[in-house]
Amino acid sequence: MAFANGKLILLGEHAVVYGSPAIACGIQRGVFARADPAQVGELVIGERRISADPTSGNDLSRALQALLGELALGPHCITLRIELPTGAGLGASAAMGVACARAVLEAHGLPCESRRVLAAAGAWERVFHGNPSGIDAAAAERGGCLWFTKAEGIQPLALACDLPAVVAIAGPPASTREMVEQVARLAAAKPELVQRSMSSITALVRNGRTALEHGDFAALGQLMNLNQMLLAGLFVSTDGIERACGVARDAGAWGAKLTGSGGGGAIVAIAEDPERVVSALRSEGFESFVTQVQAVPSSGLDPMRVES
Ligand code: MEV
Repeated sequence: MAFANGKLILLGEHAVVYGSPAIACGIQRGVFARADPAQVGELVIGERRISADPTSGNDLSRALQALLGELALGPHCITLRIELPTGAGLGASAAMGVACARAVLEAHGLPCESRRVLAAAGAWERVFHGNPSGIDAAAAERGGCLWFTKAEGIQPLALACDLPAVVAIAGPPASTREMVEQVARLAAAKPELVQRSMSSITALVRNGRTALEHGDFAALGQLMNLNQMLLAGLFVSTDGIERACGVARDAGAWGAKLTGSGGGGAIVAIAEDPERVVSALRSEGFESFVTQVQAVPSSGLDPMRVES
C-alpha cells in the first residue's frame, strides 16, 4: 500500500499563505492507500463508498475527480486507511491526496515522482482549501523536517537530533478554508495589524530555523509560545487550545502552540519528557500521543520547487 505522512507545523501557519516561511515536519502517523483500475472512480473509506463526480456537493467526490483528472490514468477504485485524526490540523486531507496519487501511480508501475504526486495532491487540496499554500502536501510527500515558502517550495532541514513532540486534540475540528478566510477578512479590515503579525511571525520562524539546526529546543519552545500569542491575536486560537497549551507547558514542555489552521483541532508541544506531557494532557481529558520529528540529513535531499 502507498503511504503519506500526517504533518505538524512547528512555526508559521497562516503567515505562510501570505508568503512568509514556515517550518513543518512529517509525523509517523498518516494515510495508506491502494488503487485498482475500475470502470468508475471510487473512494472506499471503511464502510463508505464515494464516487468521483465533479458536480457533487461532497468535497471528497470532487477531490477524487480532480486528482484522477490530473493524473490522467483513467478511473480507479482507491481504498484508504486513515491513521490520524481528520480535520485536526494534522494534514489528513493532504496525506489522503498524496497517498491516493502514489497508489494510482504504483498501480501502473510508474515512479512516484514528487512533481507528479504534488500536482495531483494540489488538485485534490484545492477542492477542500481553495487557496492552499502547499505546505501540507509538501510535508505529506517529503516527511522529515522542512522549511517551506510558497515562492521557493521545500528546503529540507537537518536537525541536530530527533525532536520529541506531543500532539493533543484540543477541540472539535475546524475547516481550514474557513479559518484561512477568517484571517483574510481580518487582513482586509485591519491590514496594519495583520501585516505586523505576519512580520513578527516571519522573524520568529527564521530564528526557529537556527534553533532547530543547533538542537536548541528550549529556544525553539519559546518561539513556539510567541507564535501561539501571535496566532491568538489573529483570532484563530480557542479556549480549548489555550488550555491544552497551558497543561503542556505546566507539565514541562519547552513550548506549545496550535498546529494547522486553528479554530479547534490539534496542538503541538515539544518536551524533553514527552510521556509526562502526554499523561498530564490525558488526565485533563485531551486525547494525546507522542511523535518523534526525525533528524533528516539535508545532504541526501535536494531542495525542490512546489507549485503553489
Ligand atoms: C494549514 O495546515 C496551514 C495554513 O497555513 C493553510 C495553508 O498553508 O494552506 C493555515
